[in-house]
Amino acid sequence: MIALQPQASNFAVPIDRMFDAMLALCGTVSLGVFVVMFWFCIKYRRGSHADREGRETQKLGLEIAWTLIPFLLFVGMFAWSIDLWTMLRTPPAGAMPIYVVAKQWMWKVQHANGRREIDALHVPLGVPVRLIMTSEDVIHSFYVPDFRVKQDVVPGRYTALWFTATKLGNYPLLCSEYCGTDHAAMLGTVTVMSPKDYQQWLKASISLAPAQAGRRLFVQFGCSGCHDPGSGIRAPDLRGVYGTQVRLADGRRANVDDRYLHDAIMLPAGQRVAGYAPIMPAYQSRIDEEDVLALMAYIKSLKASSSSAEVGHAPH
Ligand code: CUA
Repeated sequence: MIALQPQASNFAVPIDRMFDAMLALCGTVSLGVFVVMFWFCIKYRRGSHADREGRETQKLGLEIAWTLIPFLLFVGMFAWSIDLWTMLRTPPAGAMPIYVVAKQWMWKVQHANGRREIDALHVPLGVPVRLIMTSEDVIHSFYVPDFRVKQDVVPGRYTALWFTATKLGNYPLLCSEYCGTDHAAMLGTVTVMSPKDYQQWLKASISLAPAQAGRRLFVQFGCSGCHDPGSGIRAPDLRGVYGTQVRLADGRRANVDDRYLHDAIMLPAGQRVAGYAPIMPAYQSRIDEEDVLALMAYIKSLKASSSSAEVGHAPH
């Protein structure tokens, strides 16, 4: 079938194919039902002289066929859609991370080297890109129709979305979750560039890489006063902590991932590591989501030290 929208990502063709198959299957079934229904309505209407003799009351073969064939067809569609869904939800291991923060009413984007943009997203052609997204206020939804991708962007949580752009050009970016007065104006553009142009574009604006900006904030917000190795106050050593597991004061175990770090910064009381006093202030209303992303980038960049096992990490 002809695509009504440009097909500009790796998902466009498989999703369109699935949509067309679903439309064809459901269309055929509905058409069959309605044609037979209308035909019978007219032929056997009251007062018609149609032959009503020799009526079949049982035909097992036919009944099995019309139950089993549609059943298998629709289960087939289900299996196909699960397969496609899994692909949509599983970014390849080396996918390039880009951070997206949504707020009323704009899209704020930060690339791995620190370059920022608003209501625009530049991506290289043919490279898998993974967006890590959160919101500063209400639920938004990141939607690029020409890529056939859409994902809710939720405050207090990270959601992800991946794609590989397959065509150069500019594509509209929309918000598809009603988020207030200017929801309809929360628009942007995704620009697909050749990988070489993208590299040049990245370097064109000099700003601090997230990990460096994170270090600066780490000092500015006073985190370093307790968390830096050698500080006088006993707080977990953050070197190498990302990706490990810690035991919390309430007995739970937590995987130190993006979400845990985010919550531990915003509302540390509920995330406290066993053995430490509850002295860290909550940063929830004092720090915005972009700064949290930078802090996390800094914490992720810290390498484990040989002595870190005794301080921050649960031994088992
Ligand atoms: Cu943001 Cu609608």
